[in-house]
Amino acid sequence: MPILAAMFDLTKRAVVLTGATGNTGPAVLRAYLEQGAHVALAVRDAAKGAALKVDLGGDERLMVATADPADRKAMERLVEQVLRAWGRLDILANLVGGYAASAAAEGDLAAYRASWEQKVATAVTATAACIRPMRARGYGRIVSVASMAALKGEKGAAGYAMANAALVRWTESLAEETKREGITANVVLPRIIDTPENRAAMPKSDPSRWATPAEIAAVVVFLSSAEASGVTGAAIPVPART
Ligand SMILES: NC(=O)c1ccc[n+]([C@@H]2O[C@H](COP(=O)([O-])OP(=O)(O)OC[C@H]3O[C@@H](n4cnc5c(N)ncnc54)[C@H](OP(=O)(O)O)[C@@H]3O)[C@@H](O)[C@H]2O)c1
Repeated sequence: MPILAAMFDLTKRAVVLTGATGNTGPAVLRAYLEQGAHVALAVRDAAKGAALKVDLGGDERLMVATADPADRKAMERLVEQVLRAWGRLDILANLVGGYAASAAAEGDLAAYRASWEQKVATAVTATAACIRPMRARGYGRIVSVASMAALKGEKGAAGYAMANAALVRWTESLAEETKREGITANVVLPRIIDTPENRAAMPKSDPSRWATPAEIAAVVVFLSSAEASGVTGAAIPVPART
């Protein structure tokens, strides 16, 4: 079944996607390909990237590069590769993330920094590398995925909430800086995604209430479309049925 019944024409678009090797990444990747885009993945684990390519039948519109999204030089090399292959870079989707517990009262700076490195450093660095060709052509879509924890702190998840909130504030600043350049920057906030890890961690919960990876992908693709030109600096909650 396709991820999106409606069609956003991304046939001329080139995308850089991070976090593609997780639970939601493959749905986002499939949705981009279904809409006609060319997609370059920045993966830290080459074997996982290769497996994704095999799963998609070796689609020629898919490029897989081993690049840590928090490594500016590696991301700039990937951008050069994309520009050489496709002559353009229109869309960046920052999907890197992961939950980690850390208590507020413990003042556990190491844990808070780890959440920040994972959520903020990756998105900020990937964006800094990708935005140059967007600015040069006067068109760009930057979509990050954070969490509804950005909106309200949660018990035992201080670093996670702080990092996600930081990504929202940074996105707002980026949107202000780029709003007259044809570039939008937005952030999608799931509450809980239906993943095997969440099913194992919350066996008594009803997973049909959680957002599916396809529901997250639909929002990401909409924000990546030309049609979403009027939406920037937005943090869009996706609570699904919770
Ligand atoms: N799952 C949820 O309930 C939930 C709720 C709210 C928000 N979110 C957010 O939604 C997005 C998708 O969630 P998900 O559950 O599909 O994620 P996931 O399965 O945990 O996948 C995370 C992805 O990020 C990559 N990654 C993690 N840490 C990294 C780091 N330090 N440097 C580079 N790459 C790193 C992973 O790469 P490897 O494959 O190499 O490990 C993987 O591709 C994430 O941004 C997550 O924070 C998820």
